[in-house]
Amino acid sequence: MTGPAAIEAVELTRRYQLDGVAVEALRGVSLRIGRGEFAAVVGPSGSGKSTLMHLLGCLDRPSSGVLKVNGVDISRLSDGELAELRNRTIGFVFQSFHLLARTTALDNVALPLVYRGLGRAERRARARAALESVGLGHRLHHRPSQMSGGEQQRVAIARALVGEPKVLLADEPTGNLDTSNGAEVMAILDRLNEAGGMAVVLVTHEAEVAAHARRQIHVRDGVIERDDGPSQRDGGPSEQDGGPSERDGGPSERDGGPSGQGGGS
Ligand SMILES: Nc1ncnc2c1ncn2[C@@H]1O[C@H](COP(=O)(O)OP(=O)(O)OP(=O)(O)O)[C@@H](O)[C@H]1O
Ligand SMILES: [Mg+2]
Repeated sequence: MTGPAAIEAVELTRRYQLDGVAVEALRGVSLRIGRGEFAAVVGPSGSGKSTLMHLLGCLDRPSSGVLKVNGVDISRLSDGELAELRNRTIGFVFQSFHLLARTTALDNVALPLVYRGLGRAERRARARAALESVGLGHRLHHRPSQMSGGEQQRVAIARALVGEPKVLLADEPTGNLDTSNGAEVMAILDRLNEAGGMAVVLVTHEAEVAAHARRQIHVRDGVIERDDGPSQRDGGPSEQDGGPSERDGGPSERDGGPSGQGGGS
């Protein structure tokens, strides 16, 4: 495995101000999402899961802490640069789909590619392929109101993956779906993770959905209270107290990887 982690977060906090009162939604979260991982974020309502996902997805910035996306420290980026990094690296799926209502499936999915400077024909060809990959080749010209909930969520997934992101973040992607549509969405996420090597991080309240992941991240009161999964093996625990294990954690990368080292950014 070479190159930086898809996402690396150290001691992230997020404080909201509401009517002059501070809400500490996240109180110091460190985690690393490696390439090709499949992680579920679970925890009680109000524990900070969505807040965390918004930070990881660069939809919001932390109040403090360090967030690196694909090896880039986002605090050094302007809003425009951050948007570009997000566009190239991250796909985001929401519980309530967030599609443009008056726009066809094809144009909804093609939209993120506008910021890539691709021509219209190319954008549409890629959008069509993405929709076909989620089984919606027959719904290209339908608008959201003309599709079922499961179909709308699959359009949203196609939109998230059309730019070939390194990480797909999904906040309760099956929350508004019935069992069979939820299962279909999960099958698509499984396939994308396995075949494409895209990391998937999803929030869920459903044990059945969480069981698709190989790693479970338990959030409570704005901190990670437990994290079991693959990333622990390549250096995860070092974050706890300044990381002496960082040095002996990656022998292969230190000596073995002439191409990898120092090549970040
Ligand atoms: N924009 C905001 N302004 C003020 N407080 C907020 C804001 N967004 C979230 N919060 C508060 O931050 C805390 C974490 O919210 P968050 O939405 O991250 O929880 P969650 O774990 O996603 O919950 P759920 O499972 O219900 O979706 C909650 O106490 C919430 O009330
Ligand atoms: Mg939430």
